[in-house]
Amino acid sequence: MKHIETFLLALFVSTAIMGQNKNAPVNYDESQVPNFELPDPLKANDGQIIETAKLWEKKRRPELLRMFGELEYGVTPRQTGIKVKHEVVATNPNAMGGLATQKQVRFTFTGKNGKSVQALLLLYIPNNMKGRVPVIVSYNFHGNQTTTMQEDVIPSPSKEIVKSLGSEAWVRGEQMSRWSYEMALQRGYAVATMNYHDICPDSPELMVQGIPSLLSGYDVRNRKENEWGAIGIWAWGYSRIADYLEKDKQIDKGRMVVLGHSRLGKTAVWAGVQDKRFKAVISNDSGCGGAALSKRVFGENVGRITANFPHWFCPAFNRYSENESSLPFDQHELLSLIAPRHAYVASAEDDSWADPRGEYLSLYYAGPVYRLYGMRGLPSKEQPAIHQPQHYDVGYHIRAGKHDVTPYDWQCYLDFLDSLWH
Ligand code: GCU
Repeated sequence: MKHIETFLLALFVSTAIMGQNKNAPVNYDESQVPNFELPDPLKANDGQIIETAKLWEKKRRPELLRMFGELEYGVTPRQTGIKVKHEVVATNPNAMGGLATQKQVRFTFTGKNGKSVQALLLLYIPNNMKGRVPVIVSYNFHGNQTTTMQEDVIPSPSKEIVKSLGSEAWVRGEQMSRWSYEMALQRGYAVATMNYHDICPDSPELMVQGIPSLLSGYDVRNRKENEWGAIGIWAWGYSRIADYLEKDKQIDKGRMVVLGHSRLGKTAVWAGVQDKRFKAVISNDSGCGGAALSKRVFGENVGRITANFPHWFCPAFNRYSENESSLPFDQHELLSLIAPRHAYVASAEDDSWADPRGEYLSLYYAGPVYRLYGMRGLPSKEQPAIHQPQHYDVGYHIRAGKHDVTPYDWQCYLDFLDSLWH
């Protein structure tokens, strides 16, 4: 008995220290949202009020960026020592019935320790356009081969690594409904995709087979408080895709967009915040740790996410498990770091786990930073009705249905991008 008591006590103490809690209560009742105060993005840590874009860029933006690195996603190393080689392994000038030129590009990452990792980029470029075209960069969940029925798309290398995650189901075309390639191509946009597991398999056990294997001494279970996790590494991967695309003669490097769904929406935002080459950043249903405000503690919360996905964030984020009120920032400040580039947040009506209202308010409260640049944030605190997209210098929509990416979402994104660039 004594042993059991001691064991339970030890378990309690260790989870309390770790902070993560798989059973942290989940609230879905708007009336139970705690009273919370959101930090003012325009008030620096020393209390100074930021009144100009210049001061924002010089003082407040770097300060906030540092906090998100130190306390949430982990710090992206300045130098990883990783070298990247690109090789075009397949091309098809007549893909999608002549609509596009398809290229498949193998990335070989080699670390200082001599190990290497391979990733495969699938790129569709519209044939009907003169000159350079904008590009939407977006990771896929189950491999390039699942995003289309096109027979010539080579399965992503991660297919082998992630078999234990159930990759047998990851067959050709299986995720097609999430990839409106034809629509994007017809409207003059290139689309580039890669499987995120190629960069870093999404499990604490398998991560060691991705980019982490090239970083000497990286041990996801034994990290420094501010050491990066999977989201940070995937975000770094998005920047490596941008390195390739900006050299492609058909791509307009001034119109690169990063788009991600759910965990990859969190990743897209963190990538877009850090890498200014992304001129528009699209978060599709990114929820907790993405666009949604943490302090509302609605739907998924910090306790749950850090317990279920201990490899996503840096260990310091665990401190805010069931303790969101003590976060020195909130996700509206993350979105505000995208300014003066364009942020777009999308929600789905039945996706309470991702807190649609919290996603909306987060973009709304990023508004003051956009206004510093003379740009238009969301005008109203009232969330719009479904299928009423709000397109200003930032964009938002909520659609009917569940957690997913649909042709309707793509249509809204393309309308928004057109409104900026055409
Ligand atoms: C889980 C997780 C979310 C995440 C989602 C996804 O539901 O709790 O945070 O966004 O998976 O990536 O689909």
